[in-house]
Order: sequence, then C-alpha cells, then structure tokens
Amino acid sequence: MIPEKYKEQLYTVGEYANKLGLKAWVVGGAVRDFYLKRDTLDIDLAFSGNQESVAGFCVKKWGGDKHKFSRFYTYRVSLGNGMKLDMVRTRKETYPFPGSLPQVEPSPNIKDDLFRRDFTTNAWCFSINPDTFGKCYDPFGAQKDIDGGLVRILHDKSFLDDPTRMFRAVRFAGRFGWKLAPKTERLLREAVKGEYPLLVTRDRFTHELIKILEEERVKEIFALMDKYDLLKFAWPGLTWHESLLKTKNAMERVGILACLLGASGEEFVRSLRLPAASAHEILGAWKVYQEKMSPLAPLSDMKKNILRAVLPGLPASALEPCVVRGQDLKEKGLSGRKISTTLEEIRRAQWQGKIKNKEDALATL
Ligand code: CTP
Repeated sequence: MIPEKYKEQLYTVGEYANKLGLKAWVVGGAVRDFYLKRDTLDIDLAFSGNQESVAGFCVKKWGGDKHKFSRFYTYRVSLGNGMKLDMVRTRKETYPFPGSLPQVEPSPNIKDDLFRRDFTTNAWCFSINPDTFGKCYDPFGAQKDIDGGLVRILHDKSFLDDPTRMFRAVRFAGRFGWKLAPKTERLLREAVKGEYPLLVTRDRFTHELIKILEEERVKEIFALMDKYDLLKFAWPGLTWHESLLKTKNAMERVGILACLLGASGEEFVRSLRLPAASAHEILGAWKVYQEKMSPLAPLSDMKKNILRAVLPGLPASALEPCVVRGQDLKEKGLSGRKISTTLEEIRRAQWQGKIKNKEDALATL
C-alpha cells in the first residue's frame, strides 16, 4: 500500500525510531489516501513514545524545519522536498466539555490513538518499523468502509465530543462521493437538532469552512450541508451558488459568499477568524459589490475575481478606477458637494457600462 516514492524515506524514519525503541506508524488520512492511490504530501506519523529526536533527525537528513505544538505532543516537520510530516505521540483524548479542545494524555497503545479519531476511514495505520514494515492494523474496519464508501464515526458520543466532525463528515462524503453510515447519519441529524454546531468556536469553524471551500467538490459538500441543515450554522441565509465554481481559491469563495449574503455579508466575514489581510480584501470587494459603483483606486486581482464571479455580465470597464477625478470636475467649474455627487453619478454610469472613458464622462456634465 505504501507508494514507491515514499518507501525509502518512511523506512529510514522507521529504522531511526526503532533504534530509539519506538514503534512507529503511518496513521490517519495518509493511510486512506495511500489506499485510494491519491497523491498526498501530508503524512501523519504516530510514535509509541517521545518523537522529538525523530523530528530532529528528519530535518537534519532532508532539510526543512520543525514546529512543536506542545499541548498535543505533536511536531510538524516541513521537509525541503515539500512533504509535511505531522508526528504525534500515540495518545488518548478526553473532552472536558462538548466542543472543547481535547485533554490529551500519552498512551503507548496505538489502538487508543486510533479510537480517538473522527471516522473509521481515518482510524487505521501501518507499521514503518523495519521488521513489520508495511503491516496494516485496521481494528475498526477502515478498509471495509472505504470499499463501501461509508463515513462512520467510532462511537456514539463522537459528534458531541467534537462537533467539527459534523462538517468533516460532509466534507469527506462530498470529496469521495461517500455516504454517511445509517447510524452515523441518525446521530448527525440528532446533533443538528441539538444544535451541537453552536458549540464549535468561530475559530475552529473558520478552519473547517476554509477546508470545505478548498475542496474540488465543494458543490457536493454544500448539497450535503443543505441536506443535513448545517448551512445555517455557517451563517443564516448562506446557500450554494454556482458562482462559487468560478474560482478555486478558498478566500475568494468566502468573498463570493459574503457578496451573495448582501447586507449581512460584512458581519459574516467579521465573524470568521480570517487572516487580517484576506478579510480586508474580501470586505473591499463586498463594499464595491454593495455600492455598485466603479472604484476610485485600482482593485486587486482578488477583489476583481470575486466581483467577476458574482457579476458575470459586468462590463470590463466597471472594475477599473473611475475615469475622472475630483480635480477634473473642479477644472470644469464644479465645487463643494456637487463634486462628490457628480463623481458618484459618473462612477455609477461607468459601473453600468454607460461611460468608458474621460471624454464620455465629461460630456455628461
Ligand atoms: N482528526 C480527528 N478529528 C478531527 C481532526 C483530525 O480525528 N477533528 C484525525 C483524523 O484521523 C485525521 C487526522 O487527524 O485523519 C489528520 O487530520 P486532518 O489533516 O485534518 O485530516 P485528513 O484526513 O488528513 O484530511 P485532509 O485529507 O483533508 O488533509
């Protein structure tokens, strides 16, 4: 199951871990992707003990850098060749209250580490220790569920422990064209009725929404969110629109959603925990969309992409900076408020394609 191109590298990691007396496995989504023969650069590794020196060894051998997430006993190693290794220490998790981040406790038992995960399809592993290299351990039926195209949670409290899994369930179902297993579907519907998604912090929700908006099959995922009544937790009135397919950029897709929401779009964007620069761009596009006037200053490509997606019939000149400036109007003898009201009229006319250049604009005076 291990792709040829990773075999040598994973063997080397396993060999080093073995020398330290650690058991080592490839776990989670990477196992699923290897089985499905999907290319992935993100590989999750689990170790039966402290993996810090394995992380250091990888960086020394292949270049790149490592970053420690201390709360979760995790090291993220970004290698020079673009590969990303998330190295966890096998652990047990408990959730002090629904929607909280888990309390983590190391456990050398790989089964505990698999059981704390979201779905069967992400809860299997194979060994990379030299004497058992490539040996698969699948205690919860991951392979069977992948073959059957089923998203299945591992225990009845899963959605309550971590309600982000409700969004993850539809994301994986949409991405792979899978269905929710009958009991998982029933528990998800109950969790929606119980409004569990409200327990997800806006920070974690933003992370899930962006992951959804990064997906190729975003339309299918939205259809599932609609089917299970999850969209309302993203924002009241949020719906699918074909214009979302005009770009693959997740931030531009947020901008499209904001425009389509109309007046509440600004609040929606502000409710998300987006990087400040992206939020600024998105709100800039939303403002132009609301005003329906050509801008005063040039628009960035991102703003243009958002606006072209939501307004496909817009004349090309509409998104260019207004063809006249206040100074031009002053020179024509206008003064005071008349300058700003005329400028707005010209910007509106340019937006509608009625004015294409300065001569057109000055002829209207
Ligand atoms: N995981 C989990 N519950 C979550 C998030 C993650 O159980 N709320 C586990 C799953 O086993 C998952 C692994 O951590 O496979 C890695 O998380 P992530 O990278 O988000 O999942 P992938 O399955 O790799 O998803 P993707 O293919 O979208 O990267």
